[in-house]
Amino acid sequence: MHKRIAMFNHKGGVSKTTTTFHLGWMLASKGHRVVLVDADPQCNLSGLILGFKGETEFEKFYEAEGGNRNIRTGLAPAFESQPRAIEPVECVAVQGCDRLFLLPGHIRLSEYEVTLGIAQELSGSIQTLQNLPGSISYLLDVTANKYNADFVLVDMNPSLSSINQNLLMTSDFFIVPTSPDFFSVMAIESLSTVIPRWHTWAERARQNETLKSAAYPYPATNPKFIGSIIQKYRPRKGSATVGFQKWIDSINDRVANQLVKTLRPLGMVLPDNTYQAVPGLLPNYCLAQIADFNTLITKSQDHRTPVFALTDEQLGHVGTVLEGDRAKRQEFEGVFSNLAEQVETLTK
Ligand SMILES: Nc1ncnc2c1ncn2[C@@H]1O[C@H](COP(=O)(O)OP(=O)(O)OP(=O)(O)O)[C@@H](O)[C@H]1O
Ligand SMILES: [Mg+2]
Repeated sequence: MHKRIAMFNHKGGVSKTTTTFHLGWMLASKGHRVVLVDADPQCNLSGLILGFKGETEFEKFYEAEGGNRNIRTGLAPAFESQPRAIEPVECVAVQGCDRLFLLPGHIRLSEYEVTLGIAQELSGSIQTLQNLPGSISYLLDVTANKYNADFVLVDMNPSLSSINQNLLMTSDFFIVPTSPDFFSVMAIESLSTVIPRWHTWAERARQNETLKSAAYPYPATNPKFIGSIIQKYRPRKGSATVGFQKWIDSINDRVANQLVKTLRPLGMVLPDNTYQAVPGLLPNYCLAQIADFNTLITKSQDHRTPVFALTDEQLGHVGTVLEGDRAKRQEFEGVFSNLAEQVETLTK
Protein backbone atom coordinates (compact mmCIF):
# COMPACT_ATOMS: atom_id res chain seq x y z
CA MET A 1 0.00 0.00 0.00
CA HIS A 2 1.35 3.43 -0.92
CA LYS A 3 2.08 6.20 1.54
CA ARG A 4 0.79 9.67 0.90
CA ILE A 5 2.89 12.58 2.13
CA ALA A 6 1.61 16.17 2.05
CA MET A 7 4.05 19.07 1.74
CA PHE A 8 2.30 21.65 3.80
CA ASN A 9 2.92 25.18 4.98
CA HIS A 10 0.42 27.95 4.36
CA LYS A 11 3.35 30.31 4.00
CA GLY A 12 4.36 30.85 0.37
CA GLY A 13 7.77 30.41 -1.21
CA VAL A 14 9.22 28.01 1.36
CA SER A 15 10.24 25.46 -1.27
CA LYS A 16 7.27 23.10 -1.13
CA THR A 17 7.28 22.61 -4.88
CA THR A 18 11.06 22.38 -5.22
CA THR A 19 11.24 19.86 -2.38
CA THR A 20 8.39 17.76 -3.78
CA PHE A 21 10.21 17.51 -7.10
CA HIS A 22 13.66 16.81 -5.64
CA LEU A 23 12.49 14.34 -3.00
CA GLY A 24 10.20 12.53 -5.43
CA TRP A 25 13.01 12.16 -7.97
CA MET A 26 15.39 10.89 -5.29
CA LEU A 27 12.89 8.34 -3.96
CA ALA A 28 12.31 7.14 -7.53
CA SER A 29 16.03 6.83 -8.18
CA LYS A 30 16.25 4.66 -5.07
CA GLY A 31 13.83 2.23 -6.71
CA HIS A 32 10.44 3.43 -5.45
CA ARG A 33 7.49 4.19 -7.66
CA VAL A 34 6.40 7.75 -6.99
CA VAL A 35 3.42 9.87 -8.03
CA LEU A 36 3.79 13.64 -7.62
CA VAL A 37 0.46 15.41 -7.25
CA ASP A 38 0.17 19.06 -8.21
CA ALA A 39 -2.71 20.23 -6.03
CA ASP A 40 -1.79 23.90 -6.30
CA PRO A 41 -3.73 26.01 -8.86
CA GLN A 42 -0.50 27.98 -9.43
CA CYS A 43 0.65 24.74 -11.13
CA ASN A 44 4.33 25.44 -10.48
CA LEU A 45 5.16 21.76 -10.18
CA SER A 46 3.41 20.92 -13.45
CA GLY A 47 5.05 23.94 -15.09
CA LEU A 48 8.46 22.83 -13.88
CA ILE A 49 8.06 19.24 -15.06
CA LEU A 50 6.29 19.98 -18.35
CA GLY A 51 8.36 23.07 -19.14
CA PHE A 52 5.34 25.42 -19.27
CA LYS A 53 5.61 29.06 -18.37
CA GLY A 54 2.22 30.64 -18.95
CA GLU A 55 -1.50 29.99 -18.75
CA THR A 56 -1.78 29.68 -22.54
CA GLU A 57 0.49 26.66 -22.52
CA PHE A 58 -1.61 25.06 -19.80
CA GLU A 59 -4.86 25.77 -21.64
CA LYS A 60 -3.38 24.18 -24.78
CA PHE A 61 -2.24 21.19 -22.75
CA TYR A 62 -5.72 20.71 -21.22
CA GLU A 63 -7.39 20.98 -24.62
CA ALA A 64 -4.91 18.80 -26.50
CA GLU A 65 -4.66 16.07 -23.91
CA GLY A 66 -8.41 15.56 -23.46
CA GLY A 67 -9.52 12.60 -21.36
CA ASN A 68 -8.76 12.34 -17.70
CA ARG A 69 -5.32 13.87 -17.46
CA ASN A 70 -5.31 16.40 -14.65
CA ILE A 71 -6.59 16.83 -11.12
CA ARG A 72 -9.61 18.89 -12.13
CA THR A 73 -11.01 16.54 -14.76
CA GLY A 74 -10.23 13.74 -12.30
CA LEU A 75 -12.49 15.34 -9.71
CA ALA A 76 -15.16 16.61 -12.10
CA PRO A 77 -17.48 13.60 -11.66
CA ALA A 78 -17.90 14.50 -7.99
CA PHE A 79 -17.74 18.28 -8.18
CA GLU A 80 -19.84 18.71 -11.29
CA SER A 81 -22.26 15.89 -10.49
CA GLN A 82 -21.41 14.10 -13.70
CA PRO A 83 -23.07 10.72 -14.21
CA ARG A 84 -19.78 8.81 -14.16
CA ALA A 85 -17.47 7.59 -11.44
CA ILE A 86 -14.09 9.06 -10.53
CA GLU A 87 -11.41 7.21 -12.50
CA PRO A 88 -7.61 7.19 -12.09
CA VAL A 89 -5.86 10.09 -13.79
CA GLU A 90 -3.60 9.36 -16.75
CA CYS A 91 -0.33 10.69 -15.31
CA VAL A 92 2.69 12.07 -17.16
CA ALA A 93 5.90 10.02 -16.99
CA VAL A 94 8.54 12.46 -15.80
CA GLN A 95 11.30 12.87 -18.38
CA GLY A 96 14.69 11.61 -17.25
CA CYS A 97 13.53 9.64 -14.23
CA ASP A 98 12.09 6.14 -14.32
CA ARG A 99 9.27 5.33 -11.90
CA LEU A 100 8.36 9.01 -11.40
CA PHE A 101 4.93 10.26 -12.50
CA LEU A 102 3.11 13.58 -12.38
CA LEU A 103 -0.58 13.97 -11.74
CA PRO A 104 -0.85 17.41 -13.39
CA GLY A 105 -2.50 20.32 -11.65
CA HIS A 106 -5.16 22.63 -13.03
CA ILE A 107 -5.11 26.42 -12.99
CA ARG A 108 -8.85 26.44 -12.27
CA LEU A 109 -8.85 23.87 -9.47
CA SER A 110 -9.68 26.72 -7.10
CA GLU A 111 -13.17 26.86 -8.62
CA TYR A 112 -13.94 23.78 -6.51
CA GLU A 113 -12.79 25.50 -3.35
CA VAL A 114 -16.09 27.07 -2.32
CA THR A 115 -18.21 23.98 -2.90
CA LEU A 116 -15.76 21.84 -0.96
CA GLY A 117 -15.76 24.43 1.82
CA ILE A 118 -19.54 24.22 2.09
CA ALA A 119 -19.51 20.42 1.93
CA GLN A 120 -16.94 20.33 4.75
CA GLU A 121 -18.82 22.85 6.89
CA LEU A 122 -22.01 20.88 6.67
CA SER A 123 -20.24 17.54 7.08
CA GLY A 124 -22.72 15.46 5.23
CA SER A 125 -26.03 17.02 6.21
CA ILE A 126 -26.79 17.74 2.55
CA GLN A 127 -26.92 14.50 0.57
CA THR A 128 -25.81 16.00 -2.75
CA LEU A 129 -22.56 17.19 -1.18
CA GLN A 130 -21.76 13.99 0.70
CA ASN A 131 -19.37 12.67 -1.96
CA LEU A 132 -17.07 15.69 -1.93
CA PRO A 133 -15.05 15.40 1.31
CA GLY A 134 -13.78 11.91 0.37
CA SER A 135 -13.41 12.51 -3.36
CA ILE A 136 -9.90 14.00 -3.52
CA SER A 137 -8.48 11.21 -1.40
CA TYR A 138 -10.29 8.64 -3.53
CA LEU A 139 -8.88 10.14 -6.74
CA LEU A 140 -5.32 10.16 -5.37
CA ASP A 141 -5.64 6.57 -4.13
CA VAL A 142 -7.02 5.09 -7.34
CA THR A 143 -4.40 6.98 -9.36
CA ALA A 144 -1.61 5.78 -7.06
CA ASN A 145 -2.93 2.21 -7.39
CA LYS A 146 -2.97 2.46 -11.18
CA TYR A 147 0.74 3.36 -11.12
CA ASN A 148 1.51 0.85 -8.39
CA ALA A 149 3.01 3.70 -6.36
CA ASP A 150 5.00 3.34 -3.18
CA PHE A 151 4.88 7.06 -2.43
CA VAL A 152 2.51 9.87 -3.34
CA LEU A 153 3.87 13.36 -2.68
CA VAL A 154 1.32 16.16 -2.65
CA ASP A 155 2.43 19.69 -3.47
CA MET A 156 -0.05 22.09 -1.90
CA ASN A 157 -0.86 25.75 -2.38
CA PRO A 158 0.18 28.32 0.23
CA SER A 159 -3.11 28.85 2.05
CA LEU A 160 -5.50 27.55 4.67
CA SER A 161 -8.11 26.75 2.05
CA SER A 162 -10.70 23.98 2.23
CA ILE A 163 -8.74 21.98 -0.37
CA ASN A 164 -5.63 22.18 1.81
CA GLN A 165 -7.60 21.23 4.89
CA ASN A 166 -8.86 18.20 3.01
CA LEU A 167 -5.49 17.26 1.51
CA LEU A 168 -3.64 17.55 4.79
CA MET A 169 -6.20 15.72 6.92
CA THR A 170 -6.54 12.80 4.47
CA SER A 171 -2.78 12.26 4.06
CA ASP A 172 -0.85 9.57 5.89
CA PHE A 173 2.07 11.85 6.71
CA PHE A 174 3.11 15.47 6.33
CA ILE A 175 6.30 17.47 6.08
CA VAL A 176 6.46 21.19 6.85
CA PRO A 177 8.95 23.02 4.61
CA THR A 178 10.16 26.35 6.00
CA SER A 179 12.69 29.06 5.26
CA PRO A 180 14.92 30.64 7.89
CA ASP A 181 13.05 33.88 8.53
CA PHE A 182 10.59 35.58 10.83
CA PHE A 183 7.57 34.65 8.69
CA SER A 184 8.27 30.94 8.91
CA VAL A 185 8.48 31.20 12.69
CA MET A 186 5.07 32.91 12.67
CA ALA A 187 3.74 30.27 10.30
CA ILE A 188 4.68 27.44 12.69
CA GLU A 189 2.81 29.27 15.42
CA SER A 190 -0.33 29.65 13.37
CA LEU A 191 -0.19 26.01 12.20
CA SER A 192 -0.21 25.06 15.86
CA THR A 193 -3.60 26.78 16.12
CA VAL A 194 -5.07 25.76 12.78
CA ILE A 195 -4.23 22.05 12.69
CA PRO A 196 -6.12 21.25 15.94
CA ARG A 197 -9.24 22.87 14.44
CA TRP A 198 -8.85 20.81 11.29
CA HIS A 199 -8.30 17.71 13.42
CA THR A 200 -11.58 18.31 15.26
CA TRP A 201 -13.32 18.66 11.92
CA ALA A 202 -11.68 15.50 10.50
CA GLU A 203 -12.66 13.48 13.55
CA ARG A 204 -16.26 14.46 13.07
CA ALA A 205 -16.04 13.72 9.35
CA ARG A 206 -14.57 10.26 10.04
CA GLN A 207 -17.49 9.38 12.30
CA ASN A 208 -20.20 10.94 10.16
CA GLU A 209 -22.56 8.24 8.87
CA THR A 210 -23.47 10.14 5.69
CA LEU A 211 -19.81 10.68 4.79
CA LYS A 212 -19.01 7.06 5.62
CA SER A 213 -21.68 5.78 3.29
CA ALA A 214 -20.82 8.18 0.46
CA ALA A 215 -19.68 6.92 -2.96
CA TYR A 216 -16.26 8.26 -1.96
CA PRO A 217 -16.18 7.71 1.79
CA TYR A 218 -14.21 10.12 3.92
CA PRO A 219 -11.07 8.11 4.85
CA ALA A 220 -10.20 7.00 8.36
CA THR A 221 -6.71 8.51 8.38
CA ASN A 222 -5.07 10.69 11.00
CA PRO A 223 -1.94 12.22 9.43
CA LYS A 224 1.42 12.06 11.19
CA PHE A 225 3.99 14.85 11.22
CA ILE A 226 7.32 13.48 10.04
CA GLY A 227 9.41 16.62 10.30
CA SER A 228 10.33 20.06 9.02
CA ILE A 229 12.75 21.10 6.30
CA ILE A 230 14.67 24.37 6.40
CA GLN A 231 15.55 25.62 2.95
CA LYS A 232 17.66 28.21 1.26
CA TYR A 233 19.87 29.34 4.06
CA ARG A 234 23.13 30.86 2.85
CA PRO A 235 26.01 28.79 4.11
CA ARG A 236 29.47 30.05 4.84
CA LYS A 237 32.12 27.31 4.88
CA GLY A 238 29.45 24.63 5.04
CA SER A 239 27.23 25.92 7.85
CA ALA A 240 24.64 28.67 8.18
CA THR A 241 25.72 32.25 8.92
CA VAL A 242 24.86 33.75 12.30
CA GLY A 243 21.83 35.69 11.02
CA PHE A 244 20.24 32.58 9.52
CA GLN A 245 21.23 30.41 12.46
CA LYS A 246 19.07 32.56 14.72
CA TRP A 247 15.98 31.83 12.60
CA ILE A 248 16.89 28.17 12.23
CA ASP A 249 17.08 27.90 16.02
CA SER A 250 13.72 29.67 16.41
CA ILE A 251 12.05 27.38 13.88
CA ASN A 252 13.48 24.29 15.54
CA ASP A 253 12.31 25.57 18.90
CA ARG A 254 8.74 26.28 17.72
CA VAL A 255 8.48 22.96 15.94
CA ALA A 256 9.62 20.94 18.95
CA ASN A 257 8.06 23.00 21.71
CA GLN A 258 4.87 24.21 20.13
CA LEU A 259 3.87 22.29 17.00
CA VAL A 260 4.82 18.79 18.16
CA LYS A 261 3.41 19.42 21.62
CA THR A 262 0.12 20.46 20.04
CA LEU A 263 0.05 17.50 17.65
CA ARG A 264 0.97 14.81 20.19
CA PRO A 265 -2.36 14.64 22.08
CA LEU A 266 -4.15 14.62 18.72
CA GLY A 267 -2.32 11.43 17.73
CA MET A 268 -0.63 13.31 14.88
CA VAL A 269 2.97 12.39 15.71
CA LEU A 270 4.81 9.10 15.28
CA PRO A 271 5.91 6.94 18.21
CA ASP A 272 9.10 8.36 19.80
CA ASN A 273 11.16 5.33 18.85
CA THR A 274 10.39 5.90 15.16
CA TYR A 275 11.92 9.40 15.29
CA GLN A 276 14.76 7.99 17.38
CA ALA A 277 15.53 5.54 14.58
CA VAL A 278 16.70 8.49 12.47
CA PRO A 279 20.08 9.71 13.72
CA GLY A 280 20.12 13.42 14.51
CA LEU A 281 16.41 14.02 13.94
CA LEU A 282 15.61 14.69 17.58
CA PRO A 283 15.23 16.99 19.41
CA ASN A 284 14.38 19.34 16.53
CA TYR A 285 12.38 17.17 14.12
CA CYS A 286 14.32 18.88 11.32
CA LEU A 287 14.75 16.41 8.46
CA ALA A 288 17.13 18.56 6.42
CA GLN A 289 18.74 21.95 6.20
CA ILE A 290 19.18 22.72 2.56
CA ALA A 291 21.48 25.50 1.40
CA ASP A 292 20.75 27.91 -1.41
CA PHE A 293 21.22 26.14 -4.76
CA ASN A 294 22.59 29.42 -6.14
CA THR A 295 23.44 29.15 -9.85
CA LEU A 296 22.29 25.50 -9.99
CA ILE A 297 18.63 26.50 -9.55
CA THR A 298 18.36 28.06 -13.02
CA LYS A 299 20.07 25.05 -14.63
CA SER A 300 17.71 22.80 -12.72
CA GLN A 301 14.67 24.70 -14.00
CA ASP A 302 16.01 25.00 -17.56
CA HIS A 303 16.59 21.26 -17.74
CA ARG A 304 13.59 20.22 -15.63
CA THR A 305 15.99 18.17 -13.55
CA PRO A 306 16.84 18.32 -9.83
CA VAL A 307 20.16 19.99 -8.99
CA PHE A 308 21.68 16.68 -7.93
CA ALA A 309 20.80 14.97 -11.23
CA LEU A 310 22.16 17.59 -13.65
CA THR A 311 24.71 16.13 -16.06
CA ASP A 312 28.06 17.81 -16.74
CA GLU A 313 26.67 18.96 -20.10
CA GLN A 314 23.64 20.48 -18.39
CA LEU A 315 25.88 22.27 -15.91
CA GLY A 316 27.37 23.83 -19.02
CA HIS A 317 30.74 24.84 -17.67
CA VAL A 318 34.35 23.74 -18.03
CA GLY A 319 37.47 23.82 -15.91
CA THR A 320 37.36 25.01 -12.33
CA VAL A 321 33.79 26.30 -12.58
CA LEU A 322 32.65 22.82 -13.60
CA GLU A 323 34.67 21.37 -10.72
CA GLY A 324 32.86 23.71 -8.33
CA ASP A 325 29.46 22.77 -9.80
CA ARG A 326 30.27 19.08 -9.51
CA ALA A 327 31.15 19.49 -5.86
CA LYS A 328 27.84 21.32 -5.20
CA ARG A 329 25.93 18.68 -7.12
CA GLN A 330 27.48 15.97 -5.02
CA GLU A 331 26.74 17.84 -1.81
CA PHE A 332 23.05 18.23 -2.73
CA GLU A 333 22.89 14.61 -3.81
CA GLY A 334 24.01 13.68 -0.30
CA VAL A 335 21.44 16.00 1.30
CA PHE A 336 18.49 14.66 -0.72
CA SER A 337 19.64 11.05 -0.50
CA ASN A 338 19.73 11.41 3.25
CA LEU A 339 16.31 13.09 3.24
CA ALA A 340 14.84 10.27 1.16
CA GLU A 341 16.29 7.64 3.49
CA GLN A 342 14.80 9.41 6.49
CA VAL A 343 11.44 9.48 4.77
CA GLU A 344 11.72 5.75 4.06
CA THR A 345 12.45 5.04 7.73
CA LEU A 346 9.77 7.31 9.16
CA THR A 347 6.99 6.07 6.88
CA LYS A 348 7.69 2.35 7.27
N1 LIG B 1 17.34 25.58 -2.01
C1 LIG B 1 17.02 26.55 -2.89
N2 LIG B 1 17.96 27.36 -3.40
C2 LIG B 1 17.66 28.35 -4.27
N3 LIG B 1 16.42 28.62 -4.68
C3 LIG B 1 15.42 27.83 -4.21
C4 LIG B 1 15.67 26.77 -3.29
N4 LIG B 1 14.45 26.19 -3.00
C5 LIG B 1 13.55 26.88 -3.71
N5 LIG B 1 14.10 27.86 -4.43
C6 LIG B 1 13.44 28.86 -5.26
O1 LIG B 1 12.62 29.63 -4.39
C7 LIG B 1 11.37 29.93 -5.00
C8 LIG B 1 10.24 29.35 -4.16
O2 LIG B 1 10.35 27.94 -4.16
P1 LIG B 1 9.08 27.02 -4.40
O3 LIG B 1 8.31 27.46 -5.57
O4 LIG B 1 9.55 25.61 -4.37
O5 LIG B 1 8.29 27.36 -3.06
P2 LIG B 1 6.78 27.00 -2.68
O6 LIG B 1 6.73 26.86 -1.21
O7 LIG B 1 6.31 25.88 -3.50
O8 LIG B 1 6.04 28.34 -3.14
P3 LIG B 1 4.44 28.54 -3.19
O9 LIG B 1 4.03 28.72 -1.77
O10 LIG B 1 4.24 29.77 -4.02
O11 LIG B 1 3.86 27.32 -3.81
C9 LIG B 1 11.44 29.33 -6.40
O12 LIG B 1 11.83 30.33 -7.31
C10 LIG B 1 12.49 28.26 -6.29
O13 LIG B 1 13.15 28.06 -7.52
MG1 LIG C 1 4.68 25.78 -4.75
